[in-house]
Amino acid sequence: MRHLLSTKTISRDEAIVLLDIAEDMADVAGREVKKLPTLRGKTVVNLFFEDSTRTRISFEAAAKRLSADVINFSAKGSSVSKGESLKDTAQTLAAMGADGVVIRHHASGAPLVLAESGWIDAGIINAGDGTHEHPTQALLDAFTIRRRLHGAASRGRDLDGVTVTIVGDVLHSRVARSNLWLLTTLGAQVGFVAPPTLLPADTSAWPATFGFDLDAAIDAGPDVIMMLRIQAERMSASFFPNPREYARGWGLDDERFARLRADSIVMHPGPMNRGLEISSAAADSARSTVLEQVANGVSVRMAALYLLLS
Ligand code: NCD
Repeated sequence: MRHLLSTKTISRDEAIVLLDIAEDMADVAGREVKKLPTLRGKTVVNLFFEDSTRTRISFEAAAKRLSADVINFSAKGSSVSKGESLKDTAQTLAAMGADGVVIRHHASGAPLVLAESGWIDAGIINAGDGTHEHPTQALLDAFTIRRRLHGAASRGRDLDGVTVTIVGDVLHSRVARSNLWLLTTLGAQVGFVAPPTLLPADTSAWPATFGFDLDAAIDAGPDVIMMLRIQAERMSASFFPNPREYARGWGLDDERFARLRADSIVMHPGPMNRGLEISSAAADSARSTVLEQVANGVSVRMAALYLLLS
């Protein structure tokens, strides 16, 4: 593996290897000394053109646990805001000796441009590009599901037959896309539920089912229900009448949470809009994996950095 740009091109076996390495990394996280010498002397740059808290610090923690040097480059307040191009930024990072670049960008495809440009000879990890993909989020979601279902016997397993319902702003969600490709590659069955205005116009190439009725999806009893954030910052128009209407139709409220199969897993990539996408009772319940997803994110990103840079 040279770059990690998309989950679409990851095979089942590659995904399982990465998730198994993440299990090893999680074992390290449980030790008193949480650090490995693996990437000593390597430099990882976090190049963030969009706001992010958890993804950036997750990559930072992952790189540091592998003993890499980490440089955080936030495009806000940098020369990028003075009009510097991606090319100039990349060449600057190359001159600084970056071995790995973790990039988040508002433009879909920016990480691919960087990987194919020749401007910089570094492993590129896509940390979220526009509405396109967020591969490490999907990997940490798959890891979290596998652990919840198989516990200590997770290594080597896929997600064959697991049913996952993904709910909300599918149109703008890179998390939804990366999860679709990865979870189906691992054998899961994915269904999307969203307001008609928040489903992409052409989903003919998506190996999934589509629906508008969250109550029906809840009553079908999926193994996993994954709530998405409303990506208001990507909306140029009004996609639903008002927040109350959205919550009534597509929020995981207390009443729906109470009807959900008793052993269903509740997921959300964060940041959560409580009361809109998900009620506090659902988000804070023992069936919610929200904080496990954050913790697992570090292990999965350690595995990705290890595979790309060691
Ligand atoms: C996701 C993102 O930025 O794509 N969040 C994250 O990585 N923690 C999901 C989101 O913002 O809705």
